Order: sequence, then structure tokens, then C-alpha cells
Amino acid sequence: MEERIPRHVSIIMDGNGRWAKARGKERVQGHIEGVESVRACVEAAAEEGVEFLSLYAFSEENWNRPAEEVSALMDLMMLSIRREVGSFVKNGIRCIVLGNRSRLSEKARSAIEGMERETAGGGRMTLVVFLSYSGKWDILQAAQKAAAAHPEGLDSLTQEDFSSYLVTAGIPDPDLLIRTSGEQRISNYLLWQCAYTEFLFTDVLWPDFRKEEFRSALREYAKRDRRFGKVK
Ligand code: IPE
Ligand code: IPE
Ligand code: MG
Repeated sequence: MEERIPRHVSIIMDGNGRWAKARGKERVQGHIEGVESVRACVEAAAEEGVEFLSLYAFSEENWNRPAEEVSALMDLMMLSIRREVGSFVKNGIRCIVLGNRSRLSEKARSAIEGMERETAGGGRMTLVVFLSYSGKWDILQAAQKAAAAHPEGLDSLTQEDFSSYLVTAGIPDPDLLIRTSGEQRISNYLLWQCAYTEFLFTDVLWPDFRKEEFRSALREYAKRDRRFGKVK
């Protein structure tokens, strides 16, 4: 069979808390272990020739978690950025962060900007981290930008035009969306962009989702028959 590598793979990384609970550990231990899965999947995606890997790291709704968990997650993300930036540069990985930055601390914003600047030349793969992101927020901010850019009105706005106001402008829509931990929902992720995405739900908890699981998801994707509403 012809090998079909998805151009853009996206992952809703879920199940860190349950992974920790099952081991009698604090939730944050699950998040810490989850960082290892991020590293494994970034490596596997680059090795397999995926052009865009995107990860749902923190939703707008996740701000409603207990303050200690939110601050532990933010600290862990900033620590991971500092640790990984060198290997991203070395491996040609451009990393960008998308979401509502106004809710992030000044320190987090500058760490992110630094990483984006340092990795900007990476040509092998783009890693997109969705942080403080929600699909409804994205669509609304796009509508506001579109309205501001077209004071004459939006009557002639096309779907392509509208896409260019989303924070994902320039990034192809996901071909494959994986959600770990057995939940089968989109949790306010890429609502506009997933119109024709293939979904794959797995019971594996995020901290256990490593290279083998990633490769197995790509094999499953290769069997899918994408029709985009047409007759084949
Ligand atoms: C995913 O794991 C990480 C984030 C949403 C930030 P969870 O923390 O949601 O883990 P569960 O779903 O409670 O097991
Ligand atoms: C979705 O996971 C968000 C991320 C993985 C960042 P949640 O654990 O927040 O989703 P729900 O609450 O189970 O829908
Ligand atoms: Mg969860």
C-alpha cells in the first residue's frame, strides 16, 4: 500500500491526572511524565516526515483549574521551553505557540517569544503548541479582526479569507487528530480547522503515549479513506 504520511498531526494530550492517580501520585507528576511523551512524539513525527505537529497543551477552560495546578503547569512549560530549545534548534524544529497570550504572565510571554525567535529558522518540522487556546476564542477573534480590516462590510469575505484571520493562518488544517485517555470529545479545540480531519481516539493515557503509539496512529491513518464529501 502507498505510504500516506499526514502532513499535519494534532494531539489532544489528555490523561495526565488519571495516570498519576493510578500510581498514587500527585497530578503534577502526570504532567511531568507527559513532557517525556511530548519529546518522544516530536522525535517520532520528525523521523516520519510529518511537516506540522500540533499539541493542545492548555485550554482557556484549563484556567479554571485549582491555582496550584495552573501555576505548576505554567512553570513546567517554561522549564520545558528552556530545556528543549537547544535540541529544537539542532534538529531543525521551528516551534510556535498559539493562543490567548493576554492571559499569560509577562515572564511566560517573553520565554515564548525567545523560543520562537531562536527556532524560527527550523526547516524540518513545525511544532505548534496551543496554549491558553480555545476554538471559540479563535473564531471570535478572527471575526473581530476581519470586521476591523473590512470597514466596508464582510459580504465578499471567503472561507479562505476568514481562515487568514485565525491564529492558525498559514498552517494547513490537521489531517489527523489524536486524543488520548479514552475521552471522545473535542473540548473546544480546533473547531473551524477540523472540518475534514480524521479523528483517532485511544484509551492510552498521555504519559504512556510514546513513539510506538505515535507510529501506530500513523498506520491507522494510512488505512482511512478520505472523501471530502465527494464520491470516489
Ligand atoms: C491533560 O491531562 C493535561 C491538561 C489538560 C493540561 P489532564 O490534566 O486533563 O488529566 P486528566 O484528564 O485529569 O486525567
Ligand atoms: C483538553 O483536556 C485540553 C487539553 C488537553 C489541553 P481537558 O482534560 O481539559 O478536557 P475535558 O475537561 O476532559 O473536556
Ligand atoms: Mg483531562
